[in-house]
Amino acid sequence: MSTLKKTTLALALAGATLATTAQANEVEVLHWWTSGGEARAANVLKELMEAEGYGWQDFAVAGGGGETAMTVLKSRAMSGNPPSAAQIKGPEIQEWGELGLLGDLNGVADAEGWDELLPEVVADIMRHDGKYVAVPVNVHRVNWLWANPEVLEAAGVEMPTTLDELFEAGEAIREAGFVPLAHGGQAWQDATVFESVVLGGQGSEFYQQALVELDPEALGGEQMVAALEDFKRMRELMDEGMSGRDWNVATAMVIEGVAGFQLMGDWAKGEFTAAGLTAGEDYLCAAAPGTEDAFTFNIDSLAMFRVTDDEEREAQEALARLVLEPTFQEAFNLAKGSIPARPDLDMSEFDSCAQQSLADFQRTAEEGGLVPSMAHGMAVRADIQGAIFDVVTNYFNDADMPAEEAAERMVSAAEAASF
Ligand code: GAL
Repeated sequence: MSTLKKTTLALALAGATLATTAQANEVEVLHWWTSGGEARAANVLKELMEAEGYGWQDFAVAGGGGETAMTVLKSRAMSGNPPSAAQIKGPEIQEWGELGLLGDLNGVADAEGWDELLPEVVADIMRHDGKYVAVPVNVHRVNWLWANPEVLEAAGVEMPTTLDELFEAGEAIREAGFVPLAHGGQAWQDATVFESVVLGGQGSEFYQQALVELDPEALGGEQMVAALEDFKRMRELMDEGMSGRDWNVATAMVIEGVAGFQLMGDWAKGEFTAAGLTAGEDYLCAAAPGTEDAFTFNIDSLAMFRVTDDEEREAQEALARLVLEPTFQEAFNLAKGSIPARPDLDMSEFDSCAQQSLADFQRTAEEGGLVPSMAHGMAVRADIQGAIFDVVTNYFNDADMPAEEAAERMVSAAEAASF
């Protein structure tokens, strides 16, 4: 049984009634935006809410990728007092919706014209049973490569555009005395690199079949074996100290010129921005090698829990409205590294990486190549994602596990899901 189903069962057994702990006129918001760039971004929303006279109770649970935050959220929901809003993404929104725990945002959505404002791919994820239950804050692109231009120059290499070029450049960077690829050995970061390698080496159709549709032939087949082998080779570009390292510490290695590259979603840009650096000058961005015609999207969104108190609902609705207003969308996304969730905004304040992200989002949406990020909870439900993470990380850290065995385990991981 999935953890969420267990949650409902526990709620039913306890005969619990849901009550959020937020006071009237305030919102309690669960998120995991605690790095330098992320915290700057979260603060934008807090300030906008406060400026409208609402209280903001910050419920930040540290841990990149949000696994810990989701565990804490489940236990709060199980004890009958979820926060007013939580960063819940992708298919997981449907899981919470099925439990009947989410509020109905259609009133705000109608008044603000969300249907016209949002791209269909984004709006779809925010609705459960035809009703808006969540509001999107941004669109992150996951398949990015970040680089320190001084390190590249010292090693005499350019930005790589294929996986082979990355391995070659990595070797030169190592010889020049730097860490080729900054990485943090945590399951979600391993999965982040893994999905970009699958995409870069095998293309977006294969990515879709394997990591979105969970087709057993793709998951267990030759292309997956090849992708797993490429992925294992990435270890050669990483340093000894990677185990357990947070993603923003890895980004700092690129910022400080200790490392040449990082494969990470564009929340990494939030760290470069917070450090006062300029895109295209002090740091470089490019699609992860081999993925220039693809875009792995990761949409952050705030889902609202069902509340009974009118004032609390009003505060929630204000939050939902503010999130899609241009002021928030611009300020938040400039700090967060992402692009706005609504495509109608003036992008002149955004840097060259964000401009490229928007152009590539639109191009891949039209021409194909726009795929949901598995590593960031956009492609498959949480229990399958967790099972895939286990295989990816165990394989990555086990020098003796053959890629064929990992591919077989992938097939079982997708089947083991309890839905
Ligand atoms: C992602 C999330 C981003 C960013 C990142 C690192 O899953 O969508 O907003 O926070 O994790 O924590």
